[in-house]
Amino acid sequence: METTSEPWGITPSGERVKLFTLSDEITVKISNYGGTIVSIQAPDRSGRMGEVTLGFNTVDGYINSDFYLGATIGRYANRIANGEFYIDGEAYKLAQNNGPNHLHGGIKGYDKVVWDAELLESGLRLSYRSTDMEEGYPGTLEASITFTLREDRLEVDYLAVTDNPTVVNLTNHAYFNLAGGGSVLRHRLWIDSDRYSPVGENMIPLGKHDVVEGTPFDFREATEVGGRINDGHVQLERGGGYDHNYVLNQISNPQIRVTEPESGRTLEVSTTMPGVQFYTGNFLDGSDKGRNGPINRRSGLCLETQFFPDSPNQPDFPSTILRPCEKYIEKTVYRFTTES
Ligand code: GAL
Repeated sequence: METTSEPWGITPSGERVKLFTLSDEITVKISNYGGTIVSIQAPDRSGRMGEVTLGFNTVDGYINSDFYLGATIGRYANRIANGEFYIDGEAYKLAQNNGPNHLHGGIKGYDKVVWDAELLESGLRLSYRSTDMEEGYPGTLEASITFTLREDRLEVDYLAVTDNPTVVNLTNHAYFNLAGGGSVLRHRLWIDSDRYSPVGENMIPLGKHDVVEGTPFDFREATEVGGRINDGHVQLERGGGYDHNYVLNQISNPQIRVTEPESGRTLEVSTTMPGVQFYTGNFLDGSDKGRNGPINRRSGLCLETQFFPDSPNQPDFPSTILRPCEKYIEKTVYRFTTES
């Protein structure tokens, strides 16, 4: 396991940004701009290394993009309806940066800030302190994300503490394409989940989870991502494809597996979190120019491990409130293997 660091440019406000490389059986590049996974190279079934995430060669690509490529998302991943919520009867108002909703932490979320970085023996720790009322969230939140590389696994450990009650939901927004290019519709996906969260017209969960059985949302047996995406299911129409929270059964490990049949590359995801946003890159539109050219619709898929969207307004969802006496501790592991 080796780690290196190099200068990687300057933000418009003059902050210096670095790029860190962690190498073992896979090679992972992470920037402290946005806590971003910039690149992951993993072997195919014949041992040939290849890129498996979407990204840019320069920090400017990330600064100018609206699609959260590889970024750490916070303080609250995914949507909060109407950008408002209550804690202990107190109302809080957030930016409405996605139609009427608040999305992915706001206008300058954790994906657009520069994190403090500390190289560790087997990885990298990024830390960010967001002040009270930053982007409208109460409480000063001290967050750290530790990326550890062990052989074929990238482990991501999330830790956060607050000095006042707040809401927290951290994730990473990597778009995976295990073929290194083209569409992800031929990837095969397995998710150990019996239920998903249907959404209303504004992409806010309706509050009750539906069974996947008998629907195009059933990935309890490995199935092609694109096999049923055009079935005309009302939820797929609403999301422009898959863009839904799955309630993980949390009885197996890993809980998610994606395989790309040509290369044999396989990604296994394990998490402590109760859900995952399975998103087929429906909003990507070719306007971002990535390391291999335009980043087209459905050229990457996201598996954003998370607490459920809009939990602060959903009484039946697990709570995402963090209080000063508590610690937010969550972990997600990405393992890259091959299938023969
Ligand atoms: C996903 C979200 C999508 C879209 C995307 C960013 O997490 O579920 O609806 O907002 O991020 O473009």
